[in-house]
Amino acid sequence: MTRAAEFEMLEVLCHPVIDVKMAKLRDKDTPSQDFRRILFELAGLMSASVFRHIKTVSIEIETPLEPITAVALPVHVPCIVSILRAGNGMADALSALLPEAAIGHMGLQRDPDTHNPEYYYEKLPPEIKARQVIMTDPMLATGGSAIMTADRLKSRGVTDIVFCCLVAAPEGVHAFTTAHPDIPIITAALDRELNENCYILPGLGDAGDRIYNT
Ligand code: PRP
Ligand code: URA
Repeated sequence: MTRAAEFEMLEVLCHPVIDVKMAKLRDKDTPSQDFRRILFELAGLMSASVFRHIKTVSIEIETPLEPITAVALPVHVPCIVSILRAGNGMADALSALLPEAAIGHMGLQRDPDTHNPEYYYEKLPPEIKARQVIMTDPMLATGGSAIMTADRLKSRGVTDIVFCCLVAAPEGVHAFTTAHPDIPIITAALDRELNENCYILPGLGDAGDRIYNT
């Protein structure tokens, strides 16, 4: 894949309110209770761009004045798949705005030495292969966790996936779009690089620890 094609699948949201909230999230002095709330607000602000990918079906309804053709969600409603733990913060915000959605969980934990994700848990709704999936995880660092999640979803027959994160590293974007060139990535920020521990610079630190105060 060429660099141009790689970044064609990446949407970096450009919005002053998102940028203001991202600055608060990045600030090391922002306490956990504020971090959690701001992350929820940011995912809500991103939702319009994420949900733009959702496919609908036509339905016939009647307004008080006349019949019209309108749109509805398909029978197999989309599924938001949260990459545990940190993905929950974003999944909560998206599901608050699309309460019809099913919610799945993918439990992965990066090994502190190799930085590779280790799988520990998965719970998905029935008929997952018939659903569109929105994957949520605030951080796209090496890309290992997002790639493994998409691999596992595709192995279950899922064909239509969108990935929503808050902060992406160029290394992660490259790895993810190489592994899954069909999956759009929507992010609030594209950061500079990874450090030697595969943390994103400037980043916001460990998202899971900051959300859950661990
Ligand atoms: C963090 C983050 C992503 C992953 C990103 O999770 O929430 O899932 O790392 O890194 P990658 O792109 O290099 O795979 P972590 O494994 O620390 O688990 P946690 O959310 O439970 O803290
Ligand atoms: N996981 C995080 O929570 N933060 C990073 O910067 C990289 C991986």
